[in-house]
Amino acid sequence: MRVLGIESSCDETGVAIFDSEQGLMADALFSQIDMHALYGGVVPELASRDHVKRLRPLVDQVMAESGCTPADIDAVAFTQGPGLIGALMTGACFARALAYGWNVPAIAVNHMEGHLLAPMLAPEKPEFPFVALLVSGGHTQLYSVEGVGQYELLGETLDDAAGEAFDKTAKLLGLPYPGGPHLAKLAEQGDATRFKFPRPMMDRPGVDFSFSGLKTAVRTAANQIEQITEQDKADICASFQEAMVDTLTRKCKRALKEAGMKRLVVSGGVSANIALRSRLQKTMAGMQGELYCPPLSYCTDNGAMIALAGWHRMQAGAQSQALGLVVKPRWPLKEA
Ligand code: KG4
Ligand code: ZN
Repeated sequence: MRVLGIESSCDETGVAIFDSEQGLMADALFSQIDMHALYGGVVPELASRDHVKRLRPLVDQVMAESGCTPADIDAVAFTQGPGLIGALMTGACFARALAYGWNVPAIAVNHMEGHLLAPMLAPEKPEFPFVALLVSGGHTQLYSVEGVGQYELLGETLDDAAGEAFDKTAKLLGLPYPGGPHLAKLAEQGDATRFKFPRPMMDRPGVDFSFSGLKTAVRTAANQIEQITEQDKADICASFQEAMVDTLTRKCKRALKEAGMKRLVVSGGVSANIALRSRLQKTMAGMQGELYCPPLSYCTDNGAMIALAGWHRMQAGAQSQALGLVVKPRWPLKEA
């Protein structure tokens, strides 16, 4: 079975074709980062307008690259939510029209389920059950996962998401948008022990997160430096990243213990962070456990994870979406 997947929930237009026998056949992505960087963040209206421009050429590209004709496609999967409403509408309308024209089902996919299943795009795929840490620009959540569609929320952030905290901290230091990767790069040259930033919510039971205090601690530290140098910034970045990695890792350990599992899946944009990946790798090895992350290019938003999740959903009996278009800017995974 072949599924064409369409992602348009935020600032990346992603289109891919997943084949249940061969795996990923083609994958195309257009990132709007350069456009939004001028404004220091995503401008929703500009994002929607740009998706409209990119969708058709990207679909043509993956069809050509894979050598598929419309008759080879069995379903069109698209991100129905969560995300920016206008951006979601563009992908949903396009996907629904394409599916109607090709006379195949249109499968609505939850973006976070796409992230959660993205590690299955790697050669080493996780088996169920596992604990999943989803760390993106909009979400930070820990789930106990028994199978496709069986997601029990163990904990989540009470304020900022991890990616959001990376982005806001980077902005505060004058780094370009999107801050996460820039902050991580600068952190490589910094001293992670110079600033002792808080590890929020560690003293409380459970696996919820809170990152707004960490952000404030960074602001206070930066404001106390009279003439901030590049080295100061690098030290702040390294110390911030250390606090993040430490907090996320310790909460993962706690969640695994709570769930009685030794298999961890980490996904979403922040799972591209090398410091986080290597700390988790070490931690899991120390526990005789297993860590699964998506390949680096599938950590952030992409069409491949939506095509894959669409296929899994069809296996689980998902039906074609009715013609009336509904997108869900907010869509908890437990309702997916
Ligand atoms: O999953 P994603 O592409 O979009 C959402 O669904 O939100 O995640 C984007 C987030 C941004 O906050 C970005 O700064 C962060 O992932 N990110 C990183 C890295 N690469 C992307 N954060 C830390 N280190 C990275 N290497
Ligand atoms: Zn995402």
